[in-house]
Amino acid sequence: MNRVAGKVAIVTGAARGLGRADALLLAEEGARVVATDIDAEAGRSLGSTPGIDFLAHDVSREEDWRRVVAYAMGQYGRLDVLVNNAGVIHVGDPIEFDMGEWRHMSAVNIDGAMLGCRHALPEMINGGSGSIINMASIGARAGLYFYAGYCATKGAIAAYTKSVAVYCAQNRLNIRCNSIHPGGIDTPINAGLAAEMAVKLPRMRIPPKSPVSEDGPKMRFGEPQDVAWMVLYLASDESKFMNGSEIYIDNTSTITAAAIP
Ligand SMILES: NC(=O)c1ccc[n+]([C@@H]2O[C@H](COP(=O)([O-])OP(=O)(O)OC[C@H]3O[C@@H](n4cnc5c(N)ncnc54)[C@H](O)[C@@H]3O)[C@@H](O)[C@H]2O)c1
Repeated sequence: MNRVAGKVAIVTGAARGLGRADALLLAEEGARVVATDIDAEAGRSLGSTPGIDFLAHDVSREEDWRRVVAYAMGQYGRLDVLVNNAGVIHVGDPIEFDMGEWRHMSAVNIDGAMLGCRHALPEMINGGSGSIINMASIGARAGLYFYAGYCATKGAIAAYTKSVAVYCAQNRLNIRCNSIHPGGIDTPINAGLAAEMAVKLPRMRIPPKSPVSEDGPKMRFGEPQDVAWMVLYLASDESKFMNGSEIYIDNTSTITAAAIP
């Protein structure tokens, strides 16, 4: 209990899935959480949870970031934790993909995390400490070619995380930045991906490591809490020497060719 008591956290993409689990756990452990999402209707119920405020927020829009960070500062006077969790995925291989979908993933996944860092860092510097947690994916390392563009965005997040971490360390800012790389976790993002693959990549054989198959889920999925506990650790002072790390939470999926049944 109270592992992040007194801290103020922003969690993006919090209306459902991993972000929702992160927001609830951080609030349970004593943080004031500003939970945000582009889907205001789905997120509104979070706002009635003790310790959580909900704001509508498109992470790809810089003016939205100014408003969200200003809200946290205005309400609570400090910003200790930023969880850049919002993300989107589109199916596509290196030849068959939609340029609009590529740009959508880049705008949400890469621009979103970059803008979050840009607007959180000055407040964390003023406050004297902070922890930024960027949600990447096993796709930053594994060649999931059927999500090629998505993997590119998650690799970019991992690389950007390291630049932010070194910037903070070299300037002795007492601010940390780490990326989390989940494998398949049971959230709505995975629903419908098999059907989308069948339409967009009809010649593709579902590879053995894919978390989806024609018959539905094939691989063992993790639960949102499996990731939320790591977010809590990185948000807390327990992780004060963790900076610039890539943390894989994938039950071996990046180190084996076999699916885990
Ligand atoms: N679930 C997995 O298997 C898995 C694995 C690896 C990485 N991830 C990553 O974890 C993060 C959360 O994924 P999830 O599984 O909870 O997905 P999800 O689809 O359940 O939730 C994502 C949330 O992000 C929000 N969002 C989308 N675009 C947005 C925007 N422009 N601005 C603000 N919010 C926006 C959505 O409304 C949604 O509530 C994502 O970055 C995803 O890439 C998930």
